[in-house]
Amino acid sequence: MRNIDEDTITQAVLARHAGAADTRMRDVMTSLVQHLHAFVRDVKLTKTEWFEGIRFLTETGHITDERRQEFILLSDVLGVSMLVTALNNRKPEGCTEATVFGPFHVPDAPEYALGDDVANGARGEPTFVRGHVRGLTGEGIPDAEIQVWQADQDGFYDVQLPGVDQYQARGILRSAADGGFHFRSILAESYPIPHDGPVGRLLEQLGRHPWRPAHLHFMIIAPGYRQLITHVFRQGDRYLDSDAVFGVRSSLIADWIRHEPGIAPDGSTLAEPFHTLDFDFVLDRT
Ligand code: BEZ
Ligand code: FE
Repeated sequence: MRNIDEDTITQAVLARHAGAADTRMRDVMTSLVQHLHAFVRDVKLTKTEWFEGIRFLTETGHITDERRQEFILLSDVLGVSMLVTALNNRKPEGCTEATVFGPFHVPDAPEYALGDDVANGARGEPTFVRGHVRGLTGEGIPDAEIQVWQADQDGFYDVQLPGVDQYQARGILRSAADGGFHFRSILAESYPIPHDGPVGRLLEQLGRHPWRPAHLHFMIIAPGYRQLITHVFRQGDRYLDSDAVFGVRSSLIADWIRHEPGIAPDGSTLAEPFHTLDFDFVLDRT
């Protein structure tokens, strides 16, 4: 095909994909090309703007490495991560809702026994978390793998802290025979997503802030049930209605109850204020 012009270019590209062996791949790329071309036509993209887009993506690639995933961050702030999460987690009423995974999970966090302190030296006011993992009919799910991770009082995950060479404020626990779990950690605080790179500058240009409301991440895995990736958000946080990555669901907001110094739920006597959080998770069957 020759003499392709602005009216025929879209069809010309799609025609080249007709022979793709993987039909799902072909369908996804067909839609992507159609939407991309429609966008270029819609905004009448200039050459300078096109090049600025290329420069932005190049910078996003350059800052991405083993510890930092700027492309996921871009997907997060554009609402794509939450859209994919919502589309792929339609569940019956009563199940705990899913939300974004985020870039700070690690697959090899330390394992802890119920009741342990997962903070492992992370800074923050003590918090005692307890709840149950249940199925939709209320049955406790025993031996569910419960992965938790969170930022410290300054809003940093362990993997963001130079010089911290052991995992902190994260861990893997297993629910008891009745589905119950409890552990000690630190108070969740709101924090800005990494904003010293291209995504941060994009937010600034768009007049947006980079903050996420305080939350505690959970990933729960149990045979016979669908894996749940979610957070519990802290009631009262000022960013609940403007989360930089659009992850807040009302059903995931809970009270971190503050207690004066004294006897904590694990029986220890604390000289500082502490908090308790109760939250139950309901999993869908596979
Ligand atoms: C997080 O909650 O850890 C997170 C999610 C999306 C972007 C950045 C951080
Ligand atoms: Fe987080």
